[in-house]
Order: sequence, then C-alpha cells, then structure tokens
Amino acid sequence: MKEIKVGLLGLGTVGTGVVRIVEGHHEELYGQVGSPIVIEKILVQDRAKSRSIAISADKLTEDPWDVINHPDIDVIVEVMGGVEQTKTYILAALEQGKHIVTANKDLMAVHGSEILAKAKENGCDVLYEASVAGGIPIIRTLSEGFSSDRITKIMGIVNGTTNYILTKMSQEGAAYEDVLKEAQDLGYAEADPTSDVEGLDAARKMTILSTLGFHANVSLEDVEVKGISQVTKEEILYGKRLGYEVKLLGIAERQDDFISVSVQPTMVKQSHPLASVNGVFNAVYVYGEAVGETMFYGPGAGELPTATSVVADLVAVVKNLKLGVNGQRVPAPYKVKKLKTDEQIASKY
Ligand code: NAP
Ligand code: HSE
Repeated sequence: MKEIKVGLLGLGTVGTGVVRIVEGHHEELYGQVGSPIVIEKILVQDRAKSRSIAISADKLTEDPWDVINHPDIDVIVEVMGGVEQTKTYILAALEQGKHIVTANKDLMAVHGSEILAKAKENGCDVLYEASVAGGIPIIRTLSEGFSSDRITKIMGIVNGTTNYILTKMSQEGAAYEDVLKEAQDLGYAEADPTSDVEGLDAARKMTILSTLGFHANVSLEDVEVKGISQVTKEEILYGKRLGYEVKLLGIAERQDDFISVSVQPTMVKQSHPLASVNGVFNAVYVYGEAVGETMFYGPGAGELPTATSVVADLVAVVKNLKLGVNGQRVPAPYKVKKLKTDEQIASKY
C-alpha cells in the first residue's frame, strides 16, 4: 500500500505535536485515509538540538530543499514560522504540485491571496486551519459551515498568550513580565512575543477571519490595533471591582458596504460569556443574518491543540489526494469520444 510521505518544516512546539499525533493516532488516521502517513523529512535550524521526542537523525535536515525537492514527498506541513523565506519555500513546493498545510497566520494574513492563487494554478490544496484559534476549527466553520449565510460580525478572543496573561493578572494579581515568561515557556507565545502583546498576532488572525467571513480582501493595514502591553494590573483590578474583565477583543463588523476590523483591550461585563474565557482558551462569536449568534470555544495555542488542527488539515489533503478531488488532478467524469472528420466539420463553430 502506497505510503503518503510528508515533509515537515519545523520541529518546535507545533511540529513536535504533529509528529506525536501522526504517530500516536496512526490507526485513526489510517482508518480515514486508507494509507499510512509517514513523516519522511524534517527541516530544523539545528540538528544537534535535544528534542522532547525520539526522531531518527537521518530524518532531520538543515537544508530546506532536502524537504521541498524530495521526490517522494506529496505534502509539506509548514510549522516553522516566518514570512518571506517561508513564502519562497511554499511557492517552490506549489510549483512542484505539492500540497501545503500551514499554521502560519503571519504568512497567510500577508501573502494568503498570492499563495492561494499559486495553489489554484497548480491544482494544489493549501489548508491553514491552525493559523487561527489553535484547536478551534473556525476557518472550516467560516468557509464551509457558514458558506450559505451572510456574516455580519465576527468577534472574539483569538490570542492565547494575551488571554493567559490577562487571566493570571486578574485572578492572581500576577506581574505582566512573569506571566509572559510563563506563556513563552508553555510554547504559547510567538518567537517574537511582541506580536502577541502588541495585538499584531490577533490582528493577523482577524484579517484571515474577516477575509473568509465577508468574502472580502481585508488587509492587515486595514486593522486598527492596540495590544495589552500598556494595560496595568491596577486597571484590571479596578475593572474587576466594577464588574468587568479586561480582554483583548478582535471585532470585525460589516455595516452596509463597510467592513471595520479592530483589536483592542476591552472591558467585558462579567456576565458576558467572553469574560469567562480564561487562560490560553479562545472564543469566537460569529453572527450571521440567517443563523443568528453562534459561539466557538477551545484552546487557542499550545502543542497538541494546534497540532490537532494541523493534522486534521493533513487528513483532508490526503483524502483529496487519494480521491483526486482537487484542482487539476480531477479528470472530469466524462467518457472521451473520438470524432470522425466529417462530424468535426459539421460542428457549430
Ligand atoms: P517554534 O517552537 O519556535 O518552532 C519553530 C521550528 O522551526 C523549530 O523546530 C526551528 O528549528 C524551525 N525553524 C525556524 N526557523 C527556521 C529556519 N529558518 N530554517 C530551518 N528551521 C527553522 O515555533 P512554534 O510555536 O511551533 O510555531 C510554529 C508556527 O506555528 C508559527 O508560524 C506560529 O505562529 C504557528 N502557531 C503556533 C502556535 C503555538 O501554540 N505555538 C499555535 C498556532 C500557530 P530548531 O528546532 O532547530 O530551532
Ligand atoms: N501566539 C499565539 C497565541 C499562538 O498565543 O495565540 C496561537 O496562534
């Protein structure tokens, strides 16, 4: 039985989770796709680094082209982060007809349309469920579940690191710097945590969600952004005494022909469900003209929750690959009939 060979770019927090799930849930995955999924080659920065999982040394490489140009690899899973260099790798993989799964919101928020266009051109899938709200399948929900509706508003907590910090400051009176360090140690924060605390990570996610939800070209520059670095413990505790919790909220609204998107620290009434979303958890409200109000809740970052979304995308790609239901790989279900010369002459053209 043909194995599906996967190239992994990155073996940090998320990459490690991907290996754990692909290996640990082998039977469940096999049952769904009917082929073994094998991680063939893994790109890292430093092969000598000690890892929390056992990986055979010959799978690791520091040369991205060992993965991207590998002739047996059908799918590239990108969990290394970064923007320009990563975009080069992904476009090169797409040129070769390889499918992409990525958790990279920085990349998708800025270059998503170019990457998706290249994918279409080459008949490839690019799936990016893990790029927003970690373990919550919100991208699939917006692009498939609500495809029939007219979305009017998307609102929520879409950054786990800042929600973890705000929760600990509110519930334990903890100091901002200490909790940020904890969030980094737990693998929640970005490589540069400025993106988390200054609201940029949430802004990138809101760009992706509003692009999908409103079927519009929303760009990062359109988002009004303010982070939590200036929020003091005193403000949080004062708000709490008045019956509010401070949350970093992303809000994307459509009114008539206008869309507005913002990310900012907001006083949320303690009676509102978003006030009870604590720690690394995220929650997203989606309002549709037909469906009304819906809410999605779950872990927004971390190794296994994020890897769950990445591997679910991988399963979807492999199913498409095997069934041949994507882009140019699908022969249309027609029988080919060879015309006789006189029939061609008699055609309508
Ligand atoms: P991470 O722990 O910093 O891991 C990054 C991995 O990529 C490491 O294995 C690193 O190699 C490798 N790498 C980075 N730059 C490289 C380069 N230039 N060449 C070769 N290898 C390189 O990052 P992460 O937290 O797993 O996040 C990965 C991606 O997932 C990011 O796009 C992030 O935004 C996204 N994401 C993360 C989470 C989360 O909870 N952490 C959730 C959702 C989405 P070494 O191991 O050798 O250093
Ligand atoms: N740094 C991000 C967060 C990771 O804390 O939400 C998940 O996208």
